[in-house]
Amino acid sequence: MGRREKGPFVVAVDGPAASGKGTVASSLARDLGLPYLDTGLLYRAVGVLMQRAGQDFNDVPAAACQALMITADVLDDPGLRTRAAGEAASRVATHPQVRERLLEFQQTFASQDQGSVLDGRDIGTVIAPHAPAKLYVTASPEVRAERRWRQLTGQGEQVSLEDVLADIRKRDERDGGREAAPMRAAADAVLLDTSEMTIDQAADAARRIVEAARARWEASR
Ligand code: DC
Repeated sequence: MGRREKGPFVVAVDGPAASGKGTVASSLARDLGLPYLDTGLLYRAVGVLMQRAGQDFNDVPAAACQALMITADVLDDPGLRTRAAGEAASRVATHPQVRERLLEFQQTFASQDQGSVLDGRDIGTVIAPHAPAKLYVTASPEVRAERRWRQLTGQGEQVSLEDVLADIRKRDERDGGREAAPMRAAADAVLLDTSEMTIDQAADAARRIVEAARARWEASR
């Protein structure tokens, strides 16, 4: 087998909504001193821009056009963190044309020489399939619903736990069942089930997984 030229140290963190992947990924990025991209924000931005423009999420050309407009500075908008933005993101993310237009942004981020941490649904499978460290972070739907409910009510949203659980199940089905880059653990990803873990325990477990991957990556240089 030919040797592939070695790329930067990319950490790919995938998993379903509210699994803890964002917390794990941002804590890894801080510890490793690496830039971090929450790729869900890109899809959320497309959904929110469409909503604000009064566009239909099924209007593929309009969605693709919004995806082309996404730049790093739109990602700080607190409006991207709402329940409606998550739902909008999951809908626009089913369009291959949207995914294609967001691919370059993500791959450019992942190609920085210093390395990077990205979290999403298809980082280890599509965006950075050669990432030296891959994690698939998961947790039971009930635990994830409770976490998301706390986050949303903490932001001032009025929503019941039952409705958040229903959202989570619907999103799992849509994100995992779509044809374009469905949410899936890469064959070489390490599974991390955070159902019974605190934030600190999950971050510690992730750090150990990434340290082992880094040692293997260094050794093969
Ligand atoms: O991680 P999140 O909840 O912010 O993601 C919102 C939606 O965006 C998610 O339901 C599916 C979509 N998404 C995606 O399809 N691919 C990614 N890499 C990240 C998010």
